Amino acid sequence: QEDIITLAIESSCDETSVSVLKNGREVLSNIINSQIEQHKKFGGVVPEVASRKHIENINEVIDEALAEGKVSFEDITHVGVTYGPGLVGALLVGLSAAKAIAYARDLPLNGVNHIEGHIYANFIEHKELEPPFICLIVSGGHSHLVHMKDYGDYEVLGKTRDDAAGEAFDKVARALGLGYPGGPQIDRLAKEGNKDAIPFPKAYLEEGSYDFSFSGLKSAVLNYLNSQKMKGSEIPVADVAASFQKSVVEILTEKAVQCALDKGLDRIVLAGGVAANSGLREVMERECKKNQIDFKFPSLTLCTDNAAMIGCVAYYDYIRGIRSGLDLNAFPSLKI
Ligand code: KG4
Ligand code: ZN
Repeated sequence: QEDIITLAIESSCDETSVSVLKNGREVLSNIINSQIEQHKKFGGVVPEVASRKHIENINEVIDEALAEGKVSFEDITHVGVTYGPGLVGALLVGLSAAKAIAYARDLPLNGVNHIEGHIYANFIEHKELEPPFICLIVSGGHSHLVHMKDYGDYEVLGKTRDDAAGEAFDKVARALGLGYPGGPQIDRLAKEGNKDAIPFPKAYLEEGSYDFSFSGLKSAVLNYLNSQKMKGSEIPVADVAASFQKSVVEILTEKAVQCALDKGLDRIVLAGGVAANSGLREVMERECKKNQIDFKFPSLTLCTDNAAMIGCVAYYDYIRGIRSGLDLNAFPSLKI
């Protein structure tokens, strides 16, 4: 059996990333070129700026990934690329590069769903991990509770009805004047604050629902900040960060654990940018232990957007015989 050497590209948002993997789980390189500095002054990702930056960066990042992986184009046997969900202009840059390489070298191509990619970051981190499990995917664009039954076989059990978890972190951080991206800033400040200082709400929704809603919580924080300003009171920034984070973390944990118990599964896997949150990891760890549920999460660089996780999905699709054509197009609203 020949080794499968995958070149994977991710460009769905503000990271230009290219990875080289051997047989899906062994990462030879994973270069992540973040555009955060370019978007910071606008307080969020500007799609047009993102597309232009991807164009400027892509060839260089590909070269870096090959060099660090100690491989040349001749060694690559397979190409994987994110084709959605994400920003259409940003997606098209990675997609065009991937298709050009696949065409020029006559290599098999696999288009990858970015959300699936986040789940698979765990397969790279934990070499023995196999489905089935419950996966909580929490990122800037998505909050999903998924039952991963097998490779390529998912059942979405719950999702957000409004803001994604990461989006709520970013919006609250912005209101607190903490800058973009807000998640890591709130995480840091929350450690210094009192999480019981302000009783922010938690939305449970209907009995038995695994869906999430974070817009009510976000509004409650904004209302609190406004009323403090009206009263001329100082805003206890660290306490607000800690109290807000507590509400998000508790609702995510309670629903994920309930979901695993209801489905009779003894493993929960965390994924997406918000999986980097130290409060979420801590509370999940504790509650899972209490309920005899095995709990796994990826290391920090694998939580946020990167091409290695995309290459891992591409590999598992490839060995199941799935192929994408050169007519593969960007699909901004792709669902899992
Ligand atoms: O997965 P990701 O890199 O991009 C998307 O696919 O959306 O996630 C980015 C999101 C941002 O909203 C960011 O604020 C959040 O993940 N994030 C965090 C932390 N690190 C990143 N949220 C909370 N705590 C963190 N430590
Ligand atoms: Zn992502």
